[in-house]
Amino acid sequence: AAGLVIGAAGGAGIATAVSDDGSVTTGAGGSRALTSVGSTEVVFHGRHQPGITTPLQARGHLVAFDLAAGAGRKEAAALLRRWSATARTLMAGEVPSGDTGIALDAGPSSLTVTFGFGRTFFDRTGLAARRPAQLDPLPAFSSDAVDPKRSEGDLWVQIGADDALVAFHALRALQKDAGDAARVRWQMNGFNRSAGATARPMTARNLMGQVDGTNNPKTTDPDFDRRIFVPTGATGAQDWMAGGSYAVVRRIRMLLDDWEGLPRERQERVIGRRKADGAPLSGGSETTPLDLDKRGPDGKLAIPDNAHARISAPEQNGGAAMLRRPFSFHDGIGADGTPDAGLLFVCWQADPLRGFVPVQRKLDRGDALSPFIRHESSGLFAVPGGAAEGEYVGQRLLE
Ligand code: HEM
Repeated sequence: AAGLVIGAAGGAGIATAVSDDGSVTTGAGGSRALTSVGSTEVVFHGRHQPGITTPLQARGHLVAFDLAAGAGRKEAAALLRRWSATARTLMAGEVPSGDTGIALDAGPSSLTVTFGFGRTFFDRTGLAARRPAQLDPLPAFSSDAVDPKRSEGDLWVQIGADDALVAFHALRALQKDAGDAARVRWQMNGFNRSAGATARPMTARNLMGQVDGTNNPKTTDPDFDRRIFVPTGATGAQDWMAGGSYAVVRRIRMLLDDWEGLPRERQERVIGRRKADGAPLSGGSETTPLDLDKRGPDGKLAIPDNAHARISAPEQNGGAAMLRRPFSFHDGIGADGTPDAGLLFVCWQADPLRGFVPVQRKLDRGDALSPFIRHESSGLFAVPGGAAEGEYVGQRLLE
């Protein structure tokens, strides 16, 4: 599991390691004297890649690369080997050779680097026979306004860190590693709230001001692994994906001027939850389950028929579930004078046809949120399991 090492403060020399199953162990820590944000280290090697169940980081970069003309399986394997070595070094807070110095003085700051393969990767590397059916193109949705130039790609890299310089440092190092083998197809930059900005750890808010992430599957749920990760015994074209997951990436623009013009009560009915604390409109607190049948004194459903949380709930979609792990984005003011801002929606699932696709199909048909958002780009990536010690990510496919 992608373990998390928290608070390796030099003086006390005590580190707390949190693993994916939620168990906590303490032991001797590193030698750096850092406060909590900088010293948190996520472990690179493990059954799953880091950056999936890792808590949201304050800063993120999503980058897609295309293999260069003439680069095939051999070059791709060498690239993944270089990328894995760099990711391991940087996530441990070590300084690579020929370093730019951008992250000097900072600790690992929860840096994670996650690698994925897009559908086109398999044709370019002669590996089409091992492409899983899960990478079949997503269906077109009626509300899509997708720009192909900012969509898909042979390779995908997700970088997250709790410090902007640490994240940028990793981005530069990985771009340099690409060398002649691959070039950037698109890049998106995102952010979340910084650790320590709230008095206690709380669910994040998005740029619409909503508490977002409440009903995500929890790593402690008995069916979490089955829903999010490809099983260890996967066979056929999926054998190399054991312990992996599929990432759906959508750049979703928020039409903030329109949204902010809605009175709060109407904003709350769009989602089906209160803005202040994220509690369902059927009552209780943030973590109270939605009561989808509850009616108010007027006989109307407390959580409206077209509320986003009702339509996307697993109970309404034959159990389809996904782990949403987004970053917000803001790229200034668009040509139309409105903020080019929204959500870099990233969701994780063992199979997109039992996660994103059925849910988005239903949202597309009548989600109250739809008039306030626009899907502007789309990507689907196979993210293999984590690398064991001495292994690189994707080795089981590429060697
Ligand atoms: C729930 C916002 C797009 C799937 C929620 C909630 C909010 C929210 C505020 C309620 C709190 C929570 O449980 O996290 C947004 C915004 C979006 C967006 C602002 C676009 C900018 C999507 C998309 C999908 C999706 C594209 C999938 C196709 C879900 C799911 C839930 C949810 C599965 C949990 C439902 C439940 O089990 O209660 N979303 N969402 N959302 N959303 Fe979205």
